[in-house]
Amino acid sequence: MAKIRKAVFPVAGLGTRFLPATKASPKEMLPIVDKPLIQYAAEEAEAGGVDQLVFITGRSKRSIEDHFDVAYELEHELEDAGKHKLLDIVRNVLPSNASCIYVRQSEALGLGHAVLCAKPVVGDEPFAILLADDLIRTSGKGVVEQMSDVYERYGCSVLSVQEVPREETNKYGIVQVEKGPDGEMRVVSIVEKPAPADAPSNLAVVGRYVLTPRIFEKLEQTPKGAGGEIQLTDAISALLEDEPVIAYPFEGKRYDCGSKLGYLEATVEFGLAHPELGESFSAYLRNFQALNA
Ligand code: UTP
Repeated sequence: MAKIRKAVFPVAGLGTRFLPATKASPKEMLPIVDKPLIQYAAEEAEAGGVDQLVFITGRSKRSIEDHFDVAYELEHELEDAGKHKLLDIVRNVLPSNASCIYVRQSEALGLGHAVLCAKPVVGDEPFAILLADDLIRTSGKGVVEQMSDVYERYGCSVLSVQEVPREETNKYGIVQVEKGPDGEMRVVSIVEKPAPADAPSNLAVVGRYVLTPRIFEKLEQTPKGAGGEIQLTDAISALLEDEPVIAYPFEGKRYDCGSKLGYLEATVEFGLAHPELGESFSAYLRNFQALNA
């Protein structure tokens, strides 16, 4: 069975929930402590065996290309100044065995359309999709690796899912599932952003997918859906008519960094876990709480 070697990072959205921060720079470059969201996602994909990173970019996304490129002047200056630790950090943004490919989505017509833009690069292979604003912290394997394992076992598309409060179903793609022969969750239906009263469950798809290339065929036939956008969810729904799709409740904690509250939660928790800052940040928080109690 083909291994998952390609990952698609749709980064062409407008990021309106983070304006004005995202007016001229991408949401995916927002840092959690000292690393941009997109780098966490790239590292997770590489740890999962991916060696081709396909970024679907749009206007004001140049900094993502620069981030994963060589920074000659900066490296030169750090080298001259003998700042070797910083030099390593800069050089290791991208391990040398991975390549980056950039495809431009000229209009933000929706996540489904962004994924379809990757078709010429992905071709006839299964691939992963990572939405970098869903940051997922794991203690063991990263989520892409977990999902690749599931793909290798069942040979079909895999969606990462998580239970969400009923009142939040209108923010997600929601799946209805049934148990398969191994106890795995088979997707029966999927619907984009249903009102809580109409939602078939509270199992939400979050920002990691492993899809078979048949999804491109489905995306090509998908009309505009919720919000006037070409929805990946609608294409997955069409895919279900031809192929099984598995819902996978990943191991890890997800932070919705596309929302301000989720972003702040991630900042605090990654700050507390940071090898250099953790202790002093924790002392600061305790102090702050005591003073404001
Ligand atoms: P979101 O729904 O989070 O939209 O997109 P957004 O534009 O990024 O942010 P808000 O809601 O306006 O604040 C989900 C993912 O799909 C990508 C986004 O970059 C994000 O990773 N996307 C969305 C595209 O690449 N192209 C699109 O046309 C739409």
